[in-house]
Amino acid sequence: MKPDLPVWRTLLYVPVNVEKYIDKAHTRGADVIQLDLEDAVPHAEKAQARTLVQKNAARVRRAGADVLVRINRPIALAVRDIEASICPDVDALAITKADSASHIRILDELVSELEQARGMPVGHTKFNAMVETLDAFFRIHEIVKAAERIVSCSVGGEDLALACNFQPSGEALLYPKQHMIIAAAAAGIMPLGFIDSVAGFGDWDTFRTMVRRSRDFGFMGASCIHPGQVAIVNEAYTPSDAELAHARRLIAADDEAKKQGRGSFALDGKMIDIPIVMRAQRLLARYDAIKAREAKTLAAANG
Ligand code: COA
Ligand code: MG
Repeated sequence: MKPDLPVWRTLLYVPVNVEKYIDKAHTRGADVIQLDLEDAVPHAEKAQARTLVQKNAARVRRAGADVLVRINRPIALAVRDIEASICPDVDALAITKADSASHIRILDELVSELEQARGMPVGHTKFNAMVETLDAFFRIHEIVKAAERIVSCSVGGEDLALACNFQPSGEALLYPKQHMIIAAAAAGIMPLGFIDSVAGFGDWDTFRTMVRRSRDFGFMGASCIHPGQVAIVNEAYTPSDAELAHARRLIAADDEAKKQGRGSFALDGKMIDIPIVMRAQRLLARYDAIKAREAKTLAAANG
């Protein structure tokens, strides 16, 4: 994994021009507020919406959330969106319809120039690469490695289903989603999203089970379109007490085994060796990172 990846369990979409959503967005508990300039903003409103980005970024981050801006794809709009967004209060951009490594590199160059011109550290602004087209899908492993500032990626399940004429069922989406997870791991970045389609989820228990399943497949966080989803997704992308207890027990047993000169041993009738111990260590490190983020949120709320 790249060092210092942020904790982004929940990315709440908020259209940047909907004042009543913006006003309370910081109270919803999301790790990231995703200010949308793309599909939730009608064409006629885009120019006006852009003027709101920096002011609203400062407002929605005041309880400790990171701020990401989702930009448009036609390049003329993308350039204007980026010019309007680069500032210390915007932590990242979601690059929609990411097409290729060169597409990412050109936007990376533009962002670096703006960061420099605005007296910001070059690299401040992270990228989430969104792969939403068929050609890009087959270049995903090049796209996610195209810039150091890329920290996460996602695939548009509904887009792929439409383009390929398959139903957006869990079964049909499994291959593209897993393909992306492996590409993300190869680049050391976070795969975001769900293993199944979210369109059909009316009941929260089914939704919770699906998010937990997504984490088991390697996802590290996901977008939410409604504040009601946030607590469930945060919880599902956080290691449970039982998982933490098991990981701690396993690491303690490994310490004991090492003293006996053993790298593999049995625990509860299961063979434990190095990769299993490393997975337990990673789970604990992830939990510590989540707690650190929650502490930051608490500090912001009290300060
Ligand atoms: N961000 C912040 N607040 C939101 C929100 C969002 N995305 N969606 C709803 N809310 C707020 C509402 O203002 C309401 O607040 P209140 O109780 O303090 O008055 C509360 O959450 C409950 O909202 P609810 O009435 O259940 O939803 P709605 O009918 O107002 O809106 C949607 C439903 C789907 C239209 C709305 O959630 C939405 O626009 N989501 C974002 C869609 C988007 O960005 N899509 C692009 C990415 S795919
Ligand atoms: Mg899209």
